[in-house]
Amino acid sequence: MDVIIVNDNIEGCKLGAKIIADIVRRKNNAVLGLATGKTPIPLYDELVRLHNNESLDFSNVTSFNLDEYYKVPFTNEGSYHYFMNHHLFSKINIKKENTHVPNGMVDDVERECIEYEESIKKHGGIDIQLLGIGRDGHIGFNEPSCSLASRTRLEALMEDTREANISDFGKLELVPYYAITMGVGTIMEAKEIVLLAFGESKQDAVKGLVEGAISSMCPASILQMHPNVKIIIDNVAAKKLTKVDFYKAKFKITRL
Ligand code: PGA
Repeated sequence: MDVIIVNDNIEGCKLGAKIIADIVRRKNNAVLGLATGKTPIPLYDELVRLHNNESLDFSNVTSFNLDEYYKVPFTNEGSYHYFMNHHLFSKINIKKENTHVPNGMVDDVERECIEYEESIKKHGGIDIQLLGIGRDGHIGFNEPSCSLASRTRLEALMEDTREANISDFGKLELVPYYAITMGVGTIMEAKEIVLLAFGESKQDAVKGLVEGAISSMCPASILQMHPNVKIIIDNVAAKKLTKVDFYKAKFKITRL
């Protein structure tokens, strides 16, 4: 696990975008695992800038998103279909048919989840998975106490997660109670993972992720078992970490 401490979210998102862009340039048919939430928005802005100004080509790229709310129409501005189209897909040259976001509108959720997993496999697996982290340590919508071997499925959202996402829906009563999410086991199969976390509200989650014991009560802590993970955090999110000097020294010899 490489812990990379930056000054602010813009610097962190630019770095995250560079890591993703390098893979897109290196591997013609890269498969990207994408995330939603407030955290990665500047990263998507930077990918759009690289597309417009530096010819970053997404025409052969495939994407799989982590999650989607259950029974929220794609036209709803809180849905992750809407989010991805708005922030990224409509602004780059990725082919619509190559983008995948779980379909929370289906009646047969079990089949949707199985097919999502099969589709990831059919494309050769995810080359790089982008992650945020919830205040409770969730990744995707894998909430504390979930199986660390879980696969794509319907999951209930914790109250704290629903509260954190109020701004997407206007008021708490409108925030969905359920979502389809890639499982922790699914995420762990990505060849490379980049997790972004910025600000005070993520301090406890970052502490659990980087220096806590591996536990389903902090699902992100399982990333300690992944061979190729970069955790990009700002100075504020890093406040509760005890080995900051070591992470900084290590970063000097990290090849990006
Ligand atoms: P945020 O969400 O980026 O809006 O903080 C992160 C997450 O819940 O994974």
